[in-house]
Amino acid sequence: MKKMIIAIDGPSGTGKSTTARLLGERMNIRYIDSGTMYRGITHVILKSDIKPNELKKIIEIANDSKFEYSNNKVFMNGIDITKEIKSLEVMNKVSSVSKIKELRNSLVDKQRKVAEDESLIMDGKDIGTVVFPDADFKFFLICDLNTRASRRQEEFLDMGYNIPIDKIIKELKKRDEMDMKRTFSPLKKAKDAIEIDTTHMIIEEQIDCLYRKIISNTY
Ligand code: C5P
Repeated sequence: MKKMIIAIDGPSGTGKSTTARLLGERMNIRYIDSGTMYRGITHVILKSDIKPNELKKIIEIANDSKFEYSNNKVFMNGIDITKEIKSLEVMNKVSSVSKIKELRNSLVDKQRKVAEDESLIMDGKDIGTVVFPDADFKFFLICDLNTRASRRQEEFLDMGYNIPIDKIIKELKKRDEMDMKRTFSPLKKAKDAIEIDTTHMIIEEQIDCLYRKIISNTY
């Protein structure tokens, strides 16, 4: 199979990451969730005494970060951060960290490097618009807000946190707004992306849907 880049964007809770991961397994293509990088940096900032206005320090953290992925785990500078980056604290803070232009440039460089020598499926907010504008396939997943919130609630329950649905809805709304309205690389559908509404789809249907479109090369 020739080298290919598949970009999957959309708001949080649309099933992007799970779809991208399982699609990667089915197609035997490497998969990376770019959100883990923004979450990883946010986690490190939250753990430190760095203030939101200490831009130089924040950008240094991004420049010095090295992300590795294996067995569905995320490692930042050798440390397993898989669980930490899914916390409510990180979820609340990540959108204000990810609007910093220099931080984005640093992470986008790292994201592009991964695709230098191999095929890649990457999911995020700006993959089809900024990171890989020439991607072979671009998908934009959307989903009803309440369904997204219940999916997130399930994920939290699996991690042992019982978070009220109202709180999750509020956070998702706030994050959508910040991600869509930021100046640099806002969350938006690339002109040539295929939009898929996942509200009534189970995960297998989502994977099949993308897989069929890739295989039949229908756009
Ligand atoms: O996809 P996920 O919910 O893990 O992304 C967490 C946050 O990271 C997003 O809300 C967004 O602020 C940021 N992000 C981004 N660009 C990406 C991926 C994630 O700005 N490519």
